[in-house]
Amino acid sequence: MASFATTKAKDAKCHGVHQVVQIAVKGKAIMKMTKLAMLVLTIAVALFILIPSLSWADDGATLYKTKCAACHGVDGAGKPAAKIPSLVSDDAKKLSDADMTKAVTEKPKHAGVAKALTPDQIKMVIGYIRSIQK
Ligand code: HEC
Repeated sequence: MASFATTKAKDAKCHGVHQVVQIAVKGKAIMKMTKLAMLVLTIAVALFILIPSLSWADDGATLYKTKCAACHGVDGAGKPAAKIPSLVSDDAKKLSDADMTKAVTEKPKHAGVAKALTPDQIKMVIGYIRSIQK
């Protein structure tokens, strides 16, 4: 009880000085936080600018790998054993872009992927398939 009372009294006496010191310390901490926040923000902005050119974005190759490669293979060769046609065969090369688009949007086997792709994305995927057909 007694020691509690003395600490209280001490605290009260020091309050003025304490507050000044505390404000100064807080001020420094805020400066540090601000600097850190600026650094994080700079990195975020840099990543935002860099990522599209790292081809992590919506390009044909990425779309193909995420939406088509599971069935048609990373190289487009298909899986003859599973009746999944090659997309790089001579037959596939003869398909027009319209044929390909139709195949993607209308074949029942594609019901799952077609839903997840916009017409622009289908164009990008076909562009990528053309590039691996060469
Ligand atoms: C679930 C497995 C699966 C996925 C995913 C898939 N396909 Fe297919 N695809 C098939 C099968 C099976 C066929 C053959 C079915 C048929 O002809 O009716 C086929 C046929 C095709 C054909 C016609 C080939 C030809 O010679 O007539 C094209 C073009 C095609 N797919 C493109 C794509 C593209 C582009 C994607 C990605 C957006 C894709 N497929 C995703 C299974 C798949």
